[in-house]
Amino acid sequence: MDEIKKQISLSIRARYSILYLLTWEENRAENLIQEVAQDLNKQVYSWSISEGIHPAPAGGSSFHKPEDALRFIGSCNEKAVFVLKDFHPFLEQELVVRLLRDLSGTLRRSFKTIILLSPELTIPKELEKDVSVFDLPFPNARELGDTLHKLLAPYKQSKDVKVDLSAELTEKVVRATLGLTKNEAENVYAKALLNDRQFSEDDLPDIIEEKKQLIRKSGLLTFIGFSTRMNNVGGLEALKHWLRRRSTAFTDKARQYGLPQPKGLLMVGVQGCGKSLSAKAIAAEWNLPLLRLDVGQIFDSFIGNSEANMRKAIALAEAMSPTILWLDEIEKGFAGTLGSGGNDSGVTARVFGTFLTWMQEKTKPVFVIATANNIEQLPPELLRKGRFDEIFFIDLPGLEERKHIFKIHIQLKKRDPEKFDIAGLAETANQFSGAEIEEAVVSSMYRGFSENREFNSDDILKSIQETVPLAVTARERIDELREWAKQRARPASLKAD
Ligand SMILES: Nc1ncnc2c1ncn2[C@@H]1O[C@H](COP(=O)(O)OP(=O)(O)O)[C@@H](O)[C@H]1O
Ligand SMILES: [Mg+2]
Repeated sequence: MDEIKKQISLSIRARYSILYLLTWEENRAENLIQEVAQDLNKQVYSWSISEGIHPAPAGGSSFHKPEDALRFIGSCNEKAVFVLKDFHPFLEQELVVRLLRDLSGTLRRSFKTIILLSPELTIPKELEKDVSVFDLPFPNARELGDTLHKLLAPYKQSKDVKVDLSAELTEKVVRATLGLTKNEAENVYAKALLNDRQFSEDDLPDIIEEKKQLIRKSGLLTFIGFSTRMNNVGGLEALKHWLRRRSTAFTDKARQYGLPQPKGLLMVGVQGCGKSLSAKAIAAEWNLPLLRLDVGQIFDSFIGNSEANMRKAIALAEAMSPTILWLDEIEKGFAGTLGSGGNDSGVTARVFGTFLTWMQEKTKPVFVIATANNIEQLPPELLRKGRFDEIFFIDLPGLEERKHIFKIHIQLKKRDPEKFDIAGLAETANQFSGAEIEEAVVSSMYRGFSENREFNSDDILKSIQETVPLAVTARERIDELREWAKQRARPASLKAD
């Protein structure tokens, strides 16, 4: 909160004429603006279509129409900040846009500032140069701590409600609710208190579950629990080594040492060879929350304005940091940036631009993991130096890697790998992906089960022989991918084995 306050205060003092504050929390934003204005000795006027200008100016009129409100701002002689709430629908009207452009010039020479406050971001082309956009971040740990204390304080002395407000529990609860708006957090706290008339450590699992639900409801991010470990990833030793080196890179100790925060990792490669699996395993290995960003949803008009969606997803990930933001099959989501996307009038490109700029400039510890199966659709800007710390190429597993993968999947089925001819299986499964190896094990289990016996190496061998691996049918594409990777990516596997 302090950072955004500083930025807004600075912009007002530097006489920026129109600020756009993107937020879903109108009250919180208004309070913040009030505080900034007070520090700068300025009057605050707010406007909404329902209330007009508030406090009502002398003379009786309250200027309900947006164009009248703008004319009032132009004629007002006070040092003031004008907060226009949900003004975005009116930015489609020619007269309103023109008036704002005229105002922009005059405001720059006055002590007046307009702040557009809205959960949607739509700036008409004509105004792009006049408007500076700010995102109101989600409440930080201190603000959430205050909110929690305010809510619980009245119950501290109460006899029929038991409240544990130890510093330790406060910290845990606050951490668990980072990424919620102030209202959402208040509701979660109140619910935890009221469901059993006590607020204690026992409420923590419910609070975490509630937060997951709220994040899912936003439709943009999915909170993924620890679903696998690095031990379940076969081969890819070079990648694993790289990751192990960075496992403590988000600690304070690493900052003190002077290490920069890792930015992210792009994994490009053959389908079914462990990209998504590795993304999940990294989160477990680094013990960081994993948030999957569904790029397709960003553009879903039912969820709202795409640009605002992208910014919201980023703000959420930052609020929950340190965290991992995972964009699976990123090429699909951003395919439209290459011009083949048709008639989306540059929306995809703009949203992609927002994402790239953020990646370039982010200071919060959010590690981005992106995966891609297909390079043709991959926007080239994504590959430019400095976006990711490293680009790894995930190829089909080599012989040793296939042995490892067979062992893992036999073990995951609670069988002893010693009882299987791992070397022979790996040899036969030449050109098989990890996913195809897993599939061979599973279908041999079906065979054994249907014949009412334990499955064995022969069953798996049969399954392998019945399968034509993707690598055979998609040979050319894989060759192209390899050729591409030679120049641009680092192999995730150790030298061919
Ligand atoms: N290197 C691997 N080690 C172990 N299992 C693997 C490996 N690669 C793929 N698999 C199996 O195949 C499944 C699909 O792989 P996935 O990671 O989704 O592939 P992709 O590279 O297309 O993202 C995994 O969930 C896992 O069960
Ligand atoms: Mg995948």
